[in-house]
Amino acid sequence: MDRPNDRSGESHAGARLLIVDDESQVCRLLARWLEPAGFECAQAANAEQALELLEANTFSLLIADIRLPGKSGIELLSTTRQRFPDVAVIMVTAVDDRKTAILALELGAYGYVIKPFEQNEVIINVISALERRRLALESRDYERSLEQRVREQTEDVRISRREICLHLMAAQQYHHDETGAHIRRIGRYAEVLAGRMGYYEEQAEMLCLAAPLHDVGKIAVPDTVLLKPGELTQDERDTMKTHTTIGGRILEGSTVPLVNMSRDIALRHHEKWNGSGYPDGLLGEDIPEPARIVAVLDVYDALLHDRVYRPAVSEEEALEIITDGRGSHFDPRVVDVFMQVLPELRRIREELKEQ
Ligand SMILES: [Fe+2]
Ligand SMILES: [Fe+2]
Repeated sequence: MDRPNDRSGESHAGARLLIVDDESQVCRLLARWLEPAGFECAQAANAEQALELLEANTFSLLIADIRLPGKSGIELLSTTRQRFPDVAVIMVTAVDDRKTAILALELGAYGYVIKPFEQNEVIINVISALERRRLALESRDYERSLEQRVREQTEDVRISRREICLHLMAAQQYHHDETGAHIRRIGRYAEVLAGRMGYYEEQAEMLCLAAPLHDVGKIAVPDTVLLKPGELTQDERDTMKTHTTIGGRILEGSTVPLVNMSRDIALRHHEKWNGSGYPDGLLGEDIPEPARIVAVLDVYDALLHDRVYRPAVSEEEALEIITDGRGSHFDPRVVDVFMQVLPELRRIREELKEQ
């Protein structure tokens, strides 16, 4: 992105200034000096009046006496910096007010002029304050456009990640013993469960996209095995089990966290907490946590729906099976959190019913 054009040489003619002084002759004098230099000047006798004018009009610069009746010039300065941050401020001070003048700079004044002042000094101060203001606004605009650009790119990345997962999900539905509704439910369940387990929103959202790909490796399992009603032979069972390693291979070798999480899930969702699962008999926390989460949710959802090889069971029975598997098949902590979020899982099931 290009930086905005450098316009430091451009004049500030036409800039609107607000002069605040209780001595009207000082206001008039400043206006008489500044107007011929091309500035438009408004005048106020005190801070309250100045704030009303700032509220109602757009000014580039405020020139305020430090000593004002009522609300002081310093108070006017800090209110202006807070409420009208785009307005530059120059303070006018008597010679013995140097300390206050320094305080004014600390509070964000762009400069100060000391009474009695000369025309040139005032004009130079005004121009340099306007120039500083212009640069500050320009760099703020530049930062904002950069931030906006980063936000847009982050959103683009999110959308493309989502798209890629959705396409992979669509691909696996052409060749699958489980339905599209099942894989979408697994994603939504996983997001809820992970959220309750303390995952950051972004991680939980990632799991929502990764979990549906748990059986992506079934793409390579022949229909005769995948869709066989009834019991599988030992050979067929072995073929079926390859969906984990094939899924792992399909998704391996990436540097994208979402793809790596999907790989862990595809490869490890049939591992068991006690080490008796497949493909490698990993034990306990050696199994990546997202895979331990999907293991519970996959069994839960599969049990509640008909499959070619068995009819659905009641939720009561499914929960019994999961509770029985706590600490043997399943990570006990995942089962505990799963029980806590059951009402939400039921709502998702209701929303994403089988067609
Ligand atoms: Fe599986
Ligand atoms: Fe599944």
